[in-house]
Amino acid sequence: MRMIAPSILSADFSRLGEEIRALDQAGADLIHIDVMDGHFVPNLTIGPGVVKDLRPHTKLLFDVHLMISEPERYIEAFAGAGADIITVHQESGAHLHRLIQMIKAQELKAGISLNPATPAALLEDIIGEIDLVLIMTVNPGFGGQTMIPAALKKINRVREFAKADEHPLLIEVDGGIKVETIAAAEAAGADIFVAGSAVFKSNDYAANIQALKKAGH
Ligand code: DX5
Ligand code: ZN
Repeated sequence: MRMIAPSILSADFSRLGEEIRALDQAGADLIHIDVMDGHFVPNLTIGPGVVKDLRPHTKLLFDVHLMISEPERYIEAFAGAGADIITVHQESGAHLHRLIQMIKAQELKAGISLNPATPAALLEDIIGEIDLVLIMTVNPGFGGQTMIPAALKKINRVREFAKADEHPLLIEVDGGIKVETIAAAEAAGADIFVAGSAVFKSNDYAANIQALKKAGH
């Protein structure tokens, strides 16, 4: 079963609590929260204070995608705010192993994200330490971009490293997932599908999520 993680980047930020309750009722599997700092990516979004205020609105897992420089400065704050999964970018710093240990020390699931130009091979030696790999299929920073299909090729390679290590691993894809592209991402081997604009394109979130779950089946 495809897991759909609506990205609240495309939600109405003036009504975020309500939007999250609506996603929960509409059949979302987890809530994807895009954190941007205007430095690692050219956009600014949500901090831990907002995540904390959203926490009481749903029991669904908070899948926090940190697109920020120096993520080590904020792991504890996002953990305290109610994150369940924290994903950091491979490109965000030199000490990825230490970063992953920091997330695990907070008893959270730890993920690593790869930008479209970052090779899968960079995860080979750390795959046994992580719970999730987030493959970016657009350049991070904005919703509503077109998928870069070549980025999907990485999924297989990541899966092979995980198999060699006998390590259970979730693979998530993020960027340009919609009814027309989700089947290709699933065929490439992804488990979780982030969708922003495809979920929020109309008010009927349930229908939009169902359409993503069924597309190509
Ligand atoms: C992009 C974010 C995505 C974004 C996806 O930097 O990481 O999660 O919200 O938006 P869509 O699904 O519209 O491509
Ligand atoms: Zn994201």
